[in-house]
Amino acid sequence: MPETFRARRTERRRAEPMSRDDNRVIIFDTTLRDGEQSPGATMTLEEKLEVAALLDEMGVDVIEAGFPIASPGDFEAVSEVAKLVKRASVAGLSRASVKDIDAAAEAVRHCEKPRIHTFISTSPVHMKYKLKKEPDEVLELIRMSVTHARNLVDDVEWSAEDATRTEHDFLCRCVETAIKAGATTINIPDTVGYTIPEEFTALIAMLRERVPGTDEVIFSTHCHNDLGLAVANSLAGVKAGARQVECTINGIGERAGNAALEEIVMAMKVRNDVYPFTTGIDTTMLTRASRLVSAATSFPVQYNKAIVGRNAFAHESGIHQDGMLKHTQTYEIMRPEDVGAGKTSLVMGKHSGRHAFRKKLEELGYHLSDNAFEDAFQRFKDLADRKKHVYDEDIEALVDENIATAADKRRVAALTVIAGTMGPQTATLTVETPEGHRTIQAVGNGPVDATFNAIKEAFPHDARLALYQVHSVTGGTDAQAEVSVRLEDEEAGLSSTGKAADPDTLVASAKAYLAALNRLEAKRLRISPMNATGETLSEEARRSGP
Ligand code: KIV
Ligand code: ZN
Repeated sequence: MPETFRARRTERRRAEPMSRDDNRVIIFDTTLRDGEQSPGATMTLEEKLEVAALLDEMGVDVIEAGFPIASPGDFEAVSEVAKLVKRASVAGLSRASVKDIDAAAEAVRHCEKPRIHTFISTSPVHMKYKLKKEPDEVLELIRMSVTHARNLVDDVEWSAEDATRTEHDFLCRCVETAIKAGATTINIPDTVGYTIPEEFTALIAMLRERVPGTDEVIFSTHCHNDLGLAVANSLAGVKAGARQVECTINGIGERAGNAALEEIVMAMKVRNDVYPFTTGIDTTMLTRASRLVSAATSFPVQYNKAIVGRNAFAHESGIHQDGMLKHTQTYEIMRPEDVGAGKTSLVMGKHSGRHAFRKKLEELGYHLSDNAFEDAFQRFKDLADRKKHVYDEDIEALVDENIATAADKRRVAALTVIAGTMGPQTATLTVETPEGHRTIQAVGNGPVDATFNAIKEAFPHDARLALYQVHSVTGGTDAQAEVSVRLEDEEAGLSSTGKAADPDTLVASAKAYLAALNRLEAKRLRISPMNATGETLSEEARRSGP
């Protein structure tokens, strides 16, 4: 390498260190590369760009956007991400070959802070069976690849694939070669998720101590989760002096995945007393990022996933719910809003106690007398024994059973619909009301529309149809149709759902619509008895209602 280039390179490295603060940890996100390598997690270009934009906004330092030589699609994705991001460095992965490195350099060319990430295996098993190369040949490839990459960009990361199963003396020689050739970041991957925290701490400490020039570079971790230790190992690496962590949103990645970004970041934040490190991540965006990656990859997030799982801030046991209502720190070590999760939820189920049930009723707008409360609580417990999930609507329904409204007596008595190509589709509906039977005829744009128009004519209202869903309960043309209807009254801020099943889809639809309308009416009554349309409250409801 010409002397002038070497001098320029050293000068730049000193002028632009990746991390000035000794305790600042660089977050290198590889969701779009290692994460996308999870079987079935392929993302489209648009999805990758959406994820990259969010990672950039969230404060990720380095986004590894793909493996440019792998396919034209990967090349395009890295190139488009490089053009898009505003703050982060964008890295392209390459093997130790000139063609790979040139493709990576070309793909990241438009980024303000381009990085080439080049790697080669260093463990005996990988060198012998995968690469079929002698250790000296590997050393030469490290020298060649890093030097070539450094001639193209200032920021070069070198990784020792399968580092944790590499002989220590040889790993030291590899790292030294990469540093001498100009690598700015040295990554020590636990490629097969084999190491344990104490061992990994010792490995990073050993390299930092034995290899010359390590003060000039950033050490990095890249831990896989085959033994469920990826996060613990990454943190152990940071404790030993690594200042970059490679991770992915939701921990996706090859096989059991990579260290989960959200867990690494929150461990350092919540346990800053033992991990006194900082990152640039806006943690309030973690839940959003998790949901976006889950939607883009179609990989569900396990319910009990730390930080971002849907149960991460949900409590069901009565003892825990009671504690949470007294003081949230009894059972929560971080606030849901710190990670952008809605709020703590007390899940109503068979383990819930009176305290939580009363709180839930208050949230739903009920203020029951002691007797009415006891009665509702017993019926709630019976229901919870039978039903896996007790939703707000179930609780409303069981309390509303005691609020007898005239609306409840509105039922579908008969329905005839003319459908087919001749039009207009016409529904003739007979409804049962407290005042007797009424028959209405209405036309519509199709038989369902005609049926719903007949109900609207019978009981005029402003609620909007927000959902209409039909499921067949079993297979076959004679299957029961199960229909769900959700109505929303935006002005009153109310919504309600009605469900019904019938072998005739139109009859099930009419029943579901009317059930939703009746329930909406009951909710209106509960909130403001005088506003409901001409109905009256029963004595019990008056006594126990708001
Ligand atoms: O797991 C691994 O070793 C990798 C390297 C390419 C960094 O993903
Ligand atoms: Zn990996």
